[in-house]
Amino acid sequence: MNIAVFASGRGTNLQAIIDAVKRGRIKANLALVVSDNKNAYALKRAGRAKIKTLVIDARNFKTRQDFDQEVSRHLEQERIDLIILAGFMRILSPWFVSKYKNRILNIHPALLPSFKGAHAIQDAFNCGVKITGVTVHFVDKLTDHGPIILQGELKLKEADTLKSLEARIHKLEHKLYPEAIRLFTQGRIKIKGRRVKIV
Ligand code: GRF
Repeated sequence: MNIAVFASGRGTNLQAIIDAVKRGRIKANLALVVSDNKNAYALKRAGRAKIKTLVIDARNFKTRQDFDQEVSRHLEQERIDLIILAGFMRILSPWFVSKYKNRILNIHPALLPSFKGAHAIQDAFNCGVKITGVTVHFVDKLTDHGPIILQGELKLKEADTLKSLEARIHKLEHKLYPEAIRLFTQGRIKIKGRRVKIV
């Protein structure tokens, strides 16, 4: 199975996936890292792991779908089977999402459907929740919405600050995402409507 990881930033989740592949925990080929940000640290991580990279500047495309079509051309070239969104800060077009239906995974740093959006950890913290966590889900046409594959929970500690909570969330992400990808590559994820069964 050929995997492409899409990342716009630091790429700590990408790193966790690279490490899981190296350890043989995920048996797949990390074929491509795609970024819309040429300065993303994720690209350095890809380089160190000798993974092919593709940087695409959104300013060169008129519409969201034009951008996605160009990405898709590269995915076809690399015969990509599975797309992993790991801090990719762009919304994908409905065209792209339906082309890769049930083959795009995303990780979100909250227990969906609570705290959708780009500031989930802070929003949950400011809301004063007692429990929060991480969600790995399939991507559909709505943001932070598709069928849920795995969730991990965290109990807030009295002493937690936003910073400590962020660190705990990221640590959980780095366990949960490789696990979900492992299940996918083993063909153990079955989707029925909104419900995902691990077999
Ligand atoms: C993670 O918190 C993930 O949940 C969210 O974006 C962040 C990416 O972090 N979708 P990193 O670039 O993998 O370090």
